Amino acid sequence: MGILSQKKGLVFGAFNEHSLAWHVAQHCLDEGADIVLTNTTAAIQLGTVARLAEEQHVPLVECDATDMDDIRSLLTRTQELLGGKIDFILHAVAQSANLRRHKTYEQANYTYFQRTLDISALSLHKILQAALEQDAISPHGSVVALSYIAAERYCHGYNDMSDAKALLESIARQFGAVYGQYNGVRVNIVSQSPTPTKAGTNWDELDLWYQYTNHMSPLGNATADDCANTCVALFSDLMKSVTMQTIYCDGGFGRTILTPEIMNDYRHT
Ligand SMILES: NC(=O)c1ccc[n+]([C@@H]2O[C@H](COP(=O)([O-])OP(=O)(O)OC[C@H]3O[C@@H](n4cnc5c(N)ncnc54)[C@H](O)[C@@H]3O)[C@@H](O)[C@H]2O)c1
Repeated sequence: MGILSQKKGLVFGAFNEHSLAWHVAQHCLDEGADIVLTNTTAAIQLGTVARLAEEQHVPLVECDATDMDDIRSLLTRTQELLGGKIDFILHAVAQSANLRRHKTYEQANYTYFQRTLDISALSLHKILQAALEQDAISPHGSVVALSYIAAERYCHGYNDMSDAKALLESIARQFGAVYGQYNGVRVNIVSQSPTPTKAGTNWDELDLWYQYTNHMSPLGNATADDCANTCVALFSDLMKSVTMQTIYCDGGFGRTILTPEIMNDYRHT
């Protein structure tokens, strides 16, 4: 008996074993939940999620999280597969072609920019809107989307993803109010430390970034398992009154200006 036993979940964004969504999925299974995994057709072909799903006997359903028809079919199919309404949803969906193609913020390609916002932020609105239409989420259910602190602060190199994360966090607050008043469904954000995943590797000089945030966080960088535990807590009934929040799973980074490690780094340069 885990804290998610009897609960049914839908997990967006597992690409491979490094994905934050895959860590969340595993922790949900360990806590007794039944889940459905979803990703795009391309991601399923390119990544390893199909093998992971098969190994764990978890259904995997294709869906482009920017396409309303896909989302509607996914929600219907998920309820069929799980035998009832959905208790929790993880949104771990993001992509920026500007970042991937090393376009700087001031040189943004606007077609890419709009796609970044659509994939990484509006997709949350679309999922919630389609879920509300179908009344697909159980009363007091829980929706969590993953973000990064660059939603609210300048972060060199994070590019148009900063704007997407700001929009994502705003949608979580707005829709959290609407859905909460409808049937008590909670919508929260987990703002995670930099973590080595496929999305994480779009970044130039990744090692320096991880080292900096690790040294700037009193607890060190939060791991993918830390992120998963935070999501599981939010999915559980223990967090029944928490909604419209950004929860920082970042080892204290967001509340820190200077640490002894950073002083030391400069002393040795
Ligand atoms: N890795 C980090 O450092 C970090 C830190 C904070 C927040 N996050 C956030 O965590 C989430 C998961 O990212 P990750 O780091 O695990 O990387 P990841 O690359 O493993 O996951 C991103 C996922 O988004 C999916 N995706 C892209 N376009 C999609 C679409 N149109 N429809 C459905 N799915 C689509 C990809 O297929 C992939 O599975 C993202 O929102 C990311 O911004 C990551």
